[in-house]
Amino acid sequence: MSHIRKAVFPVAGMGTRFLPATKSIPKEMLPLVDRPLIQYAVDEAREAGIEEFIFVSAAGKGALEDYFDTAAALEARLQASGKTEALAALGVTRMPEGALTILRQAQPLGLGHAVRQAKNLIGNEAFAVILPDDVIKGDRGALAQMVDAHRGVGGHMVAIMDVPRAQTSMYGILDVKDEAGALARARGLVEKPRSDLAPSTKAVIGRYILDSAILDRLDTLRPGAGGELQLTDAINADVKSVGVTGYMFEGQRFDCGSVQGYVQATAAFALSRADLCEEYSAFIDRSRKRLRLVA
Ligand code: G1P
Repeated sequence: MSHIRKAVFPVAGMGTRFLPATKSIPKEMLPLVDRPLIQYAVDEAREAGIEEFIFVSAAGKGALEDYFDTAAALEARLQASGKTEALAALGVTRMPEGALTILRQAQPLGLGHAVRQAKNLIGNEAFAVILPDDVIKGDRGALAQMVDAHRGVGGHMVAIMDVPRAQTSMYGILDVKDEAGALARARGLVEKPRSDLAPSTKAVIGRYILDSAILDRLDTLRPGAGGELQLTDAINADVKSVGVTGYMFEGQRFDCGSVQGYVQATAAFALSRADLCEEYSAFIDRSRKRLRLVA
């Protein structure tokens, strides 16, 4: 059994990079092939043994709530018309009774502020945070890998990957004390440092396992980079008292908060589907040839 039972999903972001699509649908509902981003995040959490799902949401995100609700009329129609495959496809959207809680973040004050909303629901156990924008494709879910690794080390754990130095200002960056295999102990963390000031090129990716001590720390947090309450700063403040480890996960990460990352993820997931791969890759080849002819 997993020792991490609860996960927080910050889903209050506006998704301005995907306008106009996100004018009336939450960015977490944008699909990769035929599943919305939030489904990938929830599936990864389930694989890691998560039993309680806490969405920190905001106004205008009703479609997210409906997605994990039953759709009685739709299900009845599918049943009546014998569309058993379509009906079965809805299975992944079902949550056990009481497993999903949706909170509202009244103001967009940053990731640290979003996680703090869940304080009363977390209590004093370690918990996970998953940012659905970061989609990680691999044989085993990144959070499940982290939950295993966390058993041995405890404290706060963040997923990390190496990024080009020119990109450090897009991420939380680890100041690495020492490394052993997939684990990197941190001396500190900095949110979005300039490339010439970054202590390393090990970037935090949106998966965290946090000791509940972070919740008190978040209460006293002051605004950081971008004027926001940064989760990275709270984790950094706990480096000595709680301990922070970076975990180099296995898998391919897509930044689905950016249009480029999103279209690449779409292609990667389509190409790995046996029912789509052949025709889709032939289409891409043909399209590239046509472009070359035109150019
Ligand atoms: C957030 C975190 C940052 C982390 C990143 C990963 O930033 O603040 O530390 O590296 O997610 O995707 P955001 O991308 O929300 O600006």
